[in-house]
Amino acid sequence: MRSGLLVLILLAAPAAATAGENPLPASQARGHALARTVCAACHAVEPKGVSPNAKAAPFRHLAGRHVPLTLQRRLADIAETGHYDMPPINLHADEVQDVAAYINSLEPPADAR
Ligand code: HEC
Repeated sequence: MRSGLLVLILLAAPAAATAGENPLPASQARGHALARTVCAACHAVEPKGVSPNAKAAPFRHLAGRHVPLTLQRRLADIAETGHYDMPPINLHADEVQDVAAYINSLEPPADAR
């Protein structure tokens, strides 16, 4: 009986997460905040939603496309040289790590292309 209750609580946890609480580890939470501020003009940065700029992949798609280290390197390049209509964004190395941690925490959709 008690273990049944525990399972229920565990099953309820992801639902609580989508209801607005922030269950992410500190690094991912910082990356999430950064992504909202700096990247959301073009990319869908949330677990759901459509990118404002149709050419910019939703971050959840990037999660499935890069292994963590490649993503971090790519983000470091983007911070240094800018990308597309975006000027270089002065992200510190630890901020790059945070954004990469956040992106990789997203669940890539089954239909990721
Ligand atoms: C001004 C619009 C704009 C902003 C702001 C922007 N991006 Fe992008 N980004 C794009 C577009 C457009 C593409 C896709 C281009 C393509 O695939 O041809 C892209 C692609 C990417 C890719 C995939 C690149 C690759 O080849 O692997 C990554 C990673 C990425 N963006 C990260 C970010 C991050 C992180 C931020 C915020 C720090 C950000 N972008 C902000 C427009 C933007």
